[in-house]
Amino acid sequence: MLSKASLSSLVLLLSATLTRSMPLELDSLDALEHELDVRTTLPSIDCSGKRTGIHFTDNSACQIPVIGQDPMAHCPQSGILVDPSMTHISADYPTYPTIQKAIDSIQSDRRKYTIVVMAGTYNETLNITRVAPLTILGQTYDPLDQKKNLVKVIGGTANYAGRYTDNAFSASLTVAPNLNASLTGAGPTGFNVSADTPFGNTDFRVYNIDFSNQEFEQANGPALAISISRANAGLYFCGFYSYQDTVYIGKLGNAYFYKNEIAGQTDFLYGFGTAYISNSKLLMRSCGGGVTAWKGTNTTFANKYGVYISSSDLVASNATIAAKMVGKCALGRPWNALHRSVFMDCYMDASIKPQGYIPWSSQPVPETLMGEYGTYGQGWNPSGRMLTQLSNGVPLVMTTELDDNTVKPYRKPEDVFITPDGKSNIGWIDTQFYAW
Ligand SMILES: *[C@@H]1O[C@H](CO)[C@@H](O)[C@H](O)[C@H]1NC(C)=O
Ligand SMILES: *[C@@H]1O[C@H](CO)[C@@H](O)[C@H](O)[C@H]1NC(C)=O
Ligand SMILES: *[C@@H]1O[C@H](CO)[C@@H](O)[C@H](O)[C@H]1NC(C)=O
Ligand SMILES: *[C@@H]1O[C@H](CO)[C@@H](O)[C@H](O)[C@H]1NC(C)=O
Ligand SMILES: *[C@@H]1O[C@H](CO)[C@@H](O)[C@H](O)[C@H]1NC(C)=O
Ligand SMILES: *[C@@H]1O[C@H](CO)[C@@H](O)[C@H](O)[C@H]1NC(C)=O
Repeated sequence: MLSKASLSSLVLLLSATLTRSMPLELDSLDALEHELDVRTTLPSIDCSGKRTGIHFTDNSACQIPVIGQDPMAHCPQSGILVDPSMTHISADYPTYPTIQKAIDSIQSDRRKYTIVVMAGTYNETLNITRVAPLTILGQTYDPLDQKKNLVKVIGGTANYAGRYTDNAFSASLTVAPNLNASLTGAGPTGFNVSADTPFGNTDFRVYNIDFSNQEFEQANGPALAISISRANAGLYFCGFYSYQDTVYIGKLGNAYFYKNEIAGQTDFLYGFGTAYISNSKLLMRSCGGGVTAWKGTNTTFANKYGVYISSSDLVASNATIAAKMVGKCALGRPWNALHRSVFMDCYMDASIKPQGYIPWSSQPVPETLMGEYGTYGQGWNPSGRMLTQLSNGVPLVMTTELDDNTVKPYRKPEDVFITPDGKSNIGWIDTQFYAW
């Protein structure tokens, strides 16, 4: 911990670095403390010259509100402000009252735009179809702590009783080039888009925003908080809250979640694409289905479509529910015969079923990878994981324990994210939050 005196001198130093026009208010000191700790303790370079640890973020100066200062004073040139009160109007940047209005204002050119969202709660659903890079920054006093997010987006609905023809219509946040690309469809291969369907956003990033799909405060059919298809999306210090089917990463979708909190139940990480969840908290609100449910795709090249959860916690969402869930939650179940999911170095609490993964009704599971590596905590039961279960009448051990060697093909984001034609694809990941 830093003393207040050294903190103040650091703040002065920082103010100078950020060319703030006003000194920070005292209130901001505590909020900055954690960040300054990180800044002063972590920056280091490993022997290969790569940065390690977390640094003061490139976006902080723009994200941290300073009383009496224009909210865009330290934001990128192509900034667009979202201010529900419409009090900050300037010739230097456009202002919109809602996030979707700001998104819709952007032309379909190749420039990178940054939308800055003022602290507040927004009742809206977001839909991003543009191809060129787009960053959405939530204002916050602490860009390195999701728990302190000040921007909440509440939107989306539940697809109950066949209300919609597809779950795509339920989402709080959608990133896909068009409607067809976002559709789930049915059957082992899902919705088949026309061959000329384009790829959507190549570099979409959100920082410090919480998304909730809370039409019902309970499971009532699929209710997506995030839906990413044919797009590359980085989600940093965000929250995603719903019940059934919270996170959907559709076909050719790539999503990197860093230090997020994701709450859901029943197949709440599902899809066709590739998701890598790092240093995050997965909160189970109940059991049912599994945590993961993936549909793999046959391609002419080797793909790694699947969901990878690394250095994260998989825990009951609160103590009351935890007591009722002991030994009941499955790590996942195969949505088709090519399901792939791997938990790596994760902490799991006692909610996890001794067997780990489970079959999906009578479906055969010939080529699935339902993997685990380095699990620890009460949810880790080595003999339980070896229990034989029936899949299509055939006795099977569902969970595959991976070792240092067999986990290698999936260990890092750079190992799994690919372009539609199978080439490595991580240029869209923020290197500040890429720990390898
Ligand atoms: C958002 O919805 C909630 C609940 O319906 C309501 O209380 C709140 O006033 C709404 N906020 C805005 C900014 O419309
Ligand atoms: C997203 O916007 C596009 C373009 O306006 C629209 O065609 C599509 O239906 C929207 N997606 C969803 C899921 O509403
Ligand atoms: C979307 O899919 C429907 C059903 O297959 C098809 O009729 C329609 O032409 C598609 N739209 C686009 C834009 O590809
Ligand atoms: C999907 O559509 C393509 C044409 O866009 C077609 O060649 C292919 O057979 C279709 N696949 C399925 C499973 O229907
Ligand atoms: C615990 O979590 C469950 C499921 O989300 C919720 O229904 C319940 O209200 C929560 N209880 C407390 C005390 O927060
Ligand atoms: C993938 O290919 C295998 C072998 O050709 C086939 O049995 C399986 O049904 C295919 N799966 C999908 C999801 O297309």
